Amino acid sequence: MKKIITYGTFDLLHYGHINLLRRAKKLGDYLIVALSTDEFNREKKKKECYFTYEQRKKLLEAIRYVDLVIPEDSWEQKVSDVHEFRVNTFVIGDDWEGKFDFLKEHCEVVYLTRTPEISTTQIKEQLKDKK
Ligand code: CTP
Repeated sequence: MKKIITYGTFDLLHYGHINLLRRAKKLGDYLIVALSTDEFNREKKKKECYFTYEQRKKLLEAIRYVDLVIPEDSWEQKVSDVHEFRVNTFVIGDDWEGKFDFLKEHCEVVYLTRTPEISTTQIKEQLKDKK
């Protein structure tokens, strides 16, 4: 069984996220999403989420492409996740192009083209402008 892993915040789930998850799952048989916790978002990624970790996790678990959601609470956990979950392929959007090449000695690394013109940040800004 080919296992894929991807990482992210997935707040205000949108079609760019779904496109990423669909293409990630197509690369194998089992898709793990390492979902950034609220603390990790706040302290390390400097992002404040609209939905809590538990809410974001439930949304992801309802998507047919996603088989397992695990917490992401540090930048350093990727190598150990790859080994613990026997991951074959690490996938992420190409906004991170080159940033995770160090994983290539542990698994395949794939950067997928981002869906243009949609992001959580953009949704938040547009909603703010409408107020
Ligand atoms: N992603 C994508 N296309 C988009 C938006 C996101 O392929 N239009 C991918 C990212 O590259 C990443 C995953 O979805 O692999 C999760 O991204 P995340 O950072 O949670 O979503 P963004 O919408 O980019 O959120 P933000 O604006 O807060 O960075």
